[in-house]
Amino acid sequence: MKISVIGCGYLGAVHAACMARLGHEVVGVDVDEAKIAALAEGRAPFFEPGLPELLGEVSGTGALRFTTDMAEVAGSQVHFVCVGTPQRRGEYAADLRYVESAVDALIPHLRDGDLVVGKSTVPVGTAAGIAERLGREAPGVSLAWNPEFLREGFAVKDTLHPDRLVYGVPGGEAGELAVAQLDEVYAGPLSEHTPRVVTDYPTAELVKVAANSFLATKISFINAMAELCEETGADVTRLADAIGYDDRIGRKFLNAGLGFGGGCLPKDIRAFMARAGELGADQAVAFLKEIDAINTRRRVRMVDLAREVLDGSIVGKRIAVLGAAFKPNSDDVRDSPALDVAVQLARQGADVRVTDPEAVPNARRLHPELRLVESLDEAVVDAEIVLLLTEWQEYRELVPAELAEKVAGLRILDGRNVLDPVAWRAAGWTYRALGRP
Ligand code: UGA
Repeated sequence: MKISVIGCGYLGAVHAACMARLGHEVVGVDVDEAKIAALAEGRAPFFEPGLPELLGEVSGTGALRFTTDMAEVAGSQVHFVCVGTPQRRGEYAADLRYVESAVDALIPHLRDGDLVVGKSTVPVGTAAGIAERLGREAPGVSLAWNPEFLREGFAVKDTLHPDRLVYGVPGGEAGELAVAQLDEVYAGPLSEHTPRVVTDYPTAELVKVAANSFLATKISFINAMAELCEETGADVTRLADAIGYDDRIGRKFLNAGLGFGGGCLPKDIRAFMARAGELGADQAVAFLKEIDAINTRRRVRMVDLAREVLDGSIVGKRIAVLGAAFKPNSDDVRDSPALDVAVQLARQGADVRVTDPEAVPNARRLHPELRLVESLDEAVVDAEIVLLLTEWQEYRELVPAELAEKVAGLRILDGRNVLDPVAWRAAGWTYRALGRP
């Protein structure tokens, strides 16, 4: 099929490349010239494992091109809207300006029979509004809402082999046609028996925020247990293992530590609360406020723990922070718990050096005041304490005896519960973690 993808960020760039990989002819459009220039040369504008290889593979076939010129979407039958919906400054609600401007720019180029497919995470009710507008300004065009569940770090795999597909479509013949068009787009994944849920717009929109709210709740639940473990001397990692064996609960997303960050979970639960408030249903998701608060408390607790281990004061103390990305295998620093802790430590007078295998440039742009260094060695030299805050594989594999030779004090805080306390303590380190004795 001929497909256009509007917005080439973490979601759109991966979606465009994967659609080409599935055999479609794809044009990706974005207003960011630098991003488009990189993609047009087959380079990924951000770190995502597997994406450079995929771009290299599909660019050569001529099936994928990138442009800043919206007019080039003309001729595509299906148009995916993949723009961002960040949190509005100073508010909980989502900022829909990019969705609105994508639709504005798209409408003049649409033809009868085209299908517009929303993938962006939007407040429930957004699709109905766009459908109404299309009905007025492009009456032969239909709209579907097809939320995306990809995780950064696994984006290519999650797009090519999703665990489910959700189609929010209108009723009647237009809906049937939209389902047929989407089935053709996703013929590859569907041939692998991927479950497909066909539903209405509000359900499709809610599926997305419900899924992210559930994941955030799972993480904050285990982090709340971590707070109790800290008070009682219990071990949250053993607790998570034990409850996780119950397959109604499951062990996934029960890793206690510094909590969730990124461009999705935090802003999605806040936008959900804001939208529920507008609908007069704020009580239904009032618990998300607590989920958010538990999550934020973990960051504060990490700073306090550093102070405690440094005998009551962090002022002037040399602190190494390992990790700036919101999670490993990503260079995304949006609402990164690691970076937030580093900033708090620096603001409170510590001499902080932060490193990350991929996220240093993005972290530097966001926090030019922080001392960001390229290598682990530069970060840990003369450090009185080391904080492991993003669990990159190379930090998980640190050898206590080797690191001991580089630092000034043998103190380590494991913000992600990924190190073996026994091995670190045996090598002479003071090892502390969140939710563990
Ligand atoms: C999340 C969802 O997992 C995706 O399904 C969804 O498509 C995406 O948001 C989105 O809305 O676009 P992502 O933001 O890439 O994906 O990251 P996750 O893997 O969900 O991790 C989120 C945060 O939770 C990270 O900071 C991670 O470190 C933290 N986390 C995760 C924990 O603290 N504990 C865990 O057990 C798992």
